[in-house]
Amino acid sequence: MTASHNTPPHTLDCDIEVGPKDWQAQQFYHLMTALVIPRPIGWISTISASGISNVAPYSYFNMMGNDPPYVAFASTGVKDTLNNLREVPHFVGNIVTMDLLEEMNFTSGDFPRDESEFGWAGLTAVPSVTGKAFRVLEAKAHIECEVKQIITDNNTNIVLGKILHTHVQKSVWKEGRIDPQLLNPVCRLSGSGYAQLGEIFNVARPVWKEVKQTQGKQAMPKAVKR
Ligand SMILES: Cc1cc2nc3c(=O)[nH]c(=O)nc-3n(C[C@H](O)[C@H](O)[C@H](O)COP(=O)(O)O)c2cc1C
Repeated sequence: MTASHNTPPHTLDCDIEVGPKDWQAQQFYHLMTALVIPRPIGWISTISASGISNVAPYSYFNMMGNDPPYVAFASTGVKDTLNNLREVPHFVGNIVTMDLLEEMNFTSGDFPRDESEFGWAGLTAVPSVTGKAFRVLEAKAHIECEVKQIITDNNTNIVLGKILHTHVQKSVWKEGRIDPQLLNPVCRLSGSGYAQLGEIFNVARPVWKEVKQTQGKQAMPKAVKR
């Protein structure tokens, strides 16, 4: 298929139809990171073989299955986090909440490998239960993982981490589960844009028997404001 536009236009006279090869890499990156939103942020802490702790945000990050549970994140190019994981294959996915937005952003700086972001950002490193990487004490929840696989395609390095252990602070727990408003996670948009949760809705799952009985859309469960 031919591209609808050779570069990102200022205004659109028709819809965009483009692939990664149609635009410069940076232009397609901007398109995709503005499209797949909001993204959660894994604030990934690792440790080097020589014992220097590292923490940096990765928003190419998500849970990848639950039986067994995995998380994945991707490094564009080889960064300190990836180098550390090749030496010590354990990491902590620290959950980023709104009270830690600025600290999280600060740790994305180009700190040299022999400098720990923990110290520069005033964060407290506390031991994990299962691995050598330290947790960020200030985070309200921690997901401890061991690296199972690193998939590399050119500059994209996808780290698959098997979840070994999770810690959740009591302050975000309500009525038998994590309360999203109490957790107040940072949602990443594109560039330097972030958001927090807005209104929350519940929608029941559809049941085939009911869909078949009503012959369609009447069986579509309604969204109910929580
Ligand atoms: C919110 C946020 C999300 C980011 N997500 C990613 C990502 O998914 N992949 C990536 O390679 N870099 C990402 N970065 C940039 C890295 O955090 C940055 O390059 C950092 O210096 C890497 O640290 P390290 O060398 O200690 O691993 C992100 C930055 C910010 C502020």
